[in-house]
Amino acid sequence: MAKEPVRVLVTGAAGQIGYALVPMIARGVMLGADQPVILHMLDIPPAAEALNGVKMELVDAAFPLLKGVVATTDVVEACTGVNVAVMVGGFPRKEGMERKDVMSKNVSIYKSQASALEKHAAANCKVLVVANPANTNALILKEFAPSIPEKNISCLTRLDHNRALGQVSERLNVQVSDVKNVIIWGNHSSTQYPDVNHASVKTSAGEKPVRELVSDDAWLNGEFITTVQQRGAAIIKARKFSSALSAASSACDHIRDWVLGTPEGTWVSMGVYSDGSYDVPSGLIYSFPVTCKNGEWSIVQGLPIDELSRKKLDLTAQELSEEKALAYSCLS
Ligand code: NAD
Ligand code: LMR
Repeated sequence: MAKEPVRVLVTGAAGQIGYALVPMIARGVMLGADQPVILHMLDIPPAAEALNGVKMELVDAAFPLLKGVVATTDVVEACTGVNVAVMVGGFPRKEGMERKDVMSKNVSIYKSQASALEKHAAANCKVLVVANPANTNALILKEFAPSIPEKNISCLTRLDHNRALGQVSERLNVQVSDVKNVIIWGNHSSTQYPDVNHASVKTSAGEKPVRELVSDDAWLNGEFITTVQQRGAAIIKARKFSSALSAASSACDHIRDWVLGTPEGTWVSMGVYSDGSYDVPSGLIYSFPVTCKNGEWSIVQGLPIDELSRKKLDLTAQELSEEKALAYSCLS
């Protein structure tokens, strides 16, 4: 029997990530090739005409899984009945700006959209915040939507996770699909800690630790980390726009694994509400290694954290605490 359609909200749908993301959702990349979807697309009035153009293209593409499109500038209409909300709407970073420079513009959007989601989304709606500062926007959304369970609110660090997989695969000249279990700890910012201490590669001789295959510790502890941390800025420098296709694809990966589960023995990185695991202060949305099963994520427990890693976990937590304070000062 055909499945009931799932309603997926994309905010900022007339923007560049939106333009890459909505066809992926309509093709089943996010929720599976047998899952019909109804797309809800929200943008602001100056983008209404462009949003309508995206709707026209979705019709023209005749996606078999796409059972309806709501394109609107009304936040209540956009949020009504949605099962998944991908929050992309906001102002992107331009060359020379740090992600926290876009804070004041974006946190107030997340405060007001929190209330709309809380009142009008389906019970158990899963929320993914993509717009920067992603962790802090997600935290503000959580705080101003107290009836949405905190386990349902997350932010995107899967792009950073995928970037780390890509760097290891290029370095070792192996398939990216054979690399697994990198970790992004902390903030989706230049203080994030891309960690390969537990990562491995599938080889003809079995799984081997990345640290054994890449014998160059200087690269792993230096250039690898800074490349992943700075990749967003490098894309902005090259394209003059921030990453879009990789952000959209990673958002699909994030929701797909959350809803359908992570493969056995594999974890992914998600920004989630800290429960104090790994001595990360609670009250922050922080990226952890997680596994997902039956639509729920759990933080991978018990990984040994060496001294260098500890410092990096704490540094990015410190930045998130400062961002939280700044966000509240922007809202007051
Ligand atoms: P964009 O400017 O092309 O699109 C953003 C869209 O949001 C625009 O169409 C704009 O009109 C709309 N918008 C603005 N305010 C809105 C509101 N209140 N409600 C609904 N829509 C609103 O930007 P983009 O390149 O698509 O990037 C979107 C966001 O994603 C930015 O904040 C960017 O920094 C962030 N980003 C995050 C990641 C990540 O990995 N977490 C990766 C790439 C980009
Ligand atoms: C990215 O990581 O590509 C985005 O967050 C855009 C940015 O501002 O870096």
